[in-house]
Amino acid sequence: MQSQYGHVYNHDPWAHNYDRNVQNEADPIRTGYEATLDWVIEQANIHPADCVLELGSGTGNLTVRIPECRQITCVDLSEKMTTQARAKLAGCTNIHFVQADVLAYLADDSLHAGAPQFQADSPQFQADSPQFDVLVSTYTIHHLTEPEKQQLFAHIHRRLRPGGRAVFGDLMIADQATELRVQQHFRDIGQPEVAEDIDEEFFWYVDAAQAGLAALGFQVQIERFSALSWGIAALKLD
Ligand SMILES: C[S@@+](CC[C@H](N)C(=O)[O-])C[C@H]1O[C@@H](n2cnc3c(N)ncnc32)[C@H](O)[C@@H]1O
Repeated sequence: MQSQYGHVYNHDPWAHNYDRNVQNEADPIRTGYEATLDWVIEQANIHPADCVLELGSGTGNLTVRIPECRQITCVDLSEKMTTQARAKLAGCTNIHFVQADVLAYLADDSLHAGAPQFQADSPQFQADSPQFDVLVSTYTIHHLTEPEKQQLFAHIHRRLRPGGRAVFGDLMIADQATELRVQQHFRDIGQPEVAEDIDEEFFWYVDAAQAGLAALGFQVQIERFSALSWGIAALKLD
C-alpha cells in the first residue's frame, strides 16, 4: 500500500534550499516551524531506552532534536533530503534510515528488514509486527489524503506499544467548514499562493484527526502555534 501522491511530494526537487526556506517564518506556511518542532520533542518525552520512529524525516531538523535513545528509524522517500539528514547526524550510531513511503512502511512488515533487531524479551518485541515506543512526524502527513491519514492512524496504533506516544506537528485547519474561510483570508491579505497550497495539499482537519485517533483508543492533546501550524499528541491507552 503506497500513498497516492508520494511521487509528487518526494522532496528531492526542493532539497537544495529546504533548510533556507523553513527559516522564513514570515511565510504563513513556515510560521511556527521551530516552535512546532520543539513542542513535538517535548511532548514525545523520549527516554534513553526508547525506540523512536520518525515519519518524513527530511533533512533531519526534527531528528537532531531527539534526545539520547536506544534507536531511531527515519523514513522518507527523498534520497536528497536524507543525504542532508545523514550529514547532520553523522556519528550517531543509533539511527537507521529507510527510503520508503510512510504508509507502505507502516503497512508492510517486510520493509522493516534491516532495522535493528528487538530482543525477544524487550517490551518492543512482537514476533509478527515490530513495535515502537514513540512516533514523531513533522510537516509530512499533510501530503497524505484524508482517508490515508485515517489508515495511517490505524497502522500507528498497531505499531505503538501500549502507553506509546505519537506526536505530530503539521499544517492543519480546524475543520473542513473553516477551510474556505481560511483560504479567503489569505487571498484578502494578498497571499493567494497560501490559498493555492491549501487547495493542492491535504492540510489536516483537526477535528477529523482528533476523532479518528480517539476512536482508535488514543488520548489526544492539541496545540496551535500559528494560523496553520498545529501539534497533535496522541497517547495509546492500551
Ligand atoms: C515538508 S518536508 C518535512 C521534513 C521534516 N520532517 C521537517 O519537519 O522539516 C516533508 C518530507 O516528507 C517526505 N514525504 C512526502 N510524502 C512522503 C511519503 N508519502 N512517504 C515518505 N516520505 C514522504 C518528503 O520527501 C519530505 O522530506
